[in-house]
Amino acid sequence: MPAMPIRVLLTGSAGFIGQNVLRRFAGDARYSVWALDLRNTYTLPKHITDAANVTLCVGDAGTTTLIEDHLCDWVIHLAGSAGVRESDADPLAYIDNNVRVTTHLFEQARLHGVTRVVYASSSSAYGDGAPLPLVESDPNRPACSIYGMTKQMCETIAQYYYTRHGVKSVGLRFFTVYGPHGRPTMAVRRFAEAIRADTPIVIYGDGTQTRDFTCVSDIVSAILASLTGSSRLVKCDVFNVGAGDSCSVNELVELIKELLGRPDYDRITHQPRHAADVGATLACGKHIAKQLGFTPKTKLRSGVAQFLRWLDGDPAMGHL
Ligand SMILES: NC(=O)c1ccc[n+]([C@@H]2O[C@H](COP(=O)([O-])OP(=O)(O)OC[C@H]3O[C@@H](n4cnc5c(N)ncnc54)[C@H](O)[C@@H]3O)[C@@H](O)[C@H]2O)c1
Repeated sequence: MPAMPIRVLLTGSAGFIGQNVLRRFAGDARYSVWALDLRNTYTLPKHITDAANVTLCVGDAGTTTLIEDHLCDWVIHLAGSAGVRESDADPLAYIDNNVRVTTHLFEQARLHGVTRVVYASSSSAYGDGAPLPLVESDPNRPACSIYGMTKQMCETIAQYYYTRHGVKSVGLRFFTVYGPHGRPTMAVRRFAEAIRADTPIVIYGDGTQTRDFTCVSDIVSAILASLTGSSRLVKCDVFNVGAGDSCSVNELVELIKELLGRPDYDRITHQPRHAADVGATLACGKHIAKQLGFTPKTKLRSGVAQFLRWLDGDPAMGHL
């Protein structure tokens, strides 16, 4: 008798990271995936969204009963309001969509025997000014944005549900993610599209701020490692997921110019740095390497080159 497939609830499945996760699961008979999002605007090819082991559901992760209806084994919770700068303009929406929704899913996980919850945290949970590279054991600093604060709160919720109810979870602190299906507002895509179209780029601040840009293919691998890592090791923990390299915004623009063959492009304008933008991020990868055996594979140059091919419509690049 073939083994029963593992039943997975994936929230935020129509989003940037969610679509890349869905792609890894689609067609793999070891899993049955319920893919939940508020919207039904997938940019994936039809054979992925129509895969026999995938059920697309439109609905709110904050009220869903899918865990109970299908007795899900795993929850991958990526739904939420992303966007650091935007969060200060609408704090309550972020609290509602990130904190309340996460609480609902943990409560459902507790009630219906989910064996592991993997949820999206963020490098924003570190606040600003911690020594680099950022290490998970560093004490929390005040968040620089409502968004970062909601991610700190999600980690607290996970801790509570483990300590009080034994719900096992992994919080992944993603560092600035780029890659196929990225939103038009994200830096790598925004810069690439502007350079290609010869329209101006806006850089916030002087561009010396650094980020640990991380390819979405590595994010997906880290999510899978979190689900399959030994139950003995995984209880309730938080891990960095970063490429482990630091690159300034100015260096990123130079790289994209070079890869697009546009060294002459100079239509760069500056606006003041937003208070919610931290000065630097860089992930220490030791904890996740030791506990889950995950190490990032994609260097920025090759990841951006592959992303540019995806932007050009190369179908081979959809599956990074
Ligand atoms: N992209 C990054 O660089 C990055 C970095 C750190 C953390 N994260 C986190 O990773 C997660 C995924 O990020 P992303 O970049 O894919 O964001 P995204 O905005 O592209 O995707 C989020 C998806 O969640 C859906 N959604 C929002 N609220 C929902 C709800 N209540 N019920 C159902 N669906 C809902 C949205 O419709 C969207 O499709 C988010 O939690 C984000 O905060 C992302």
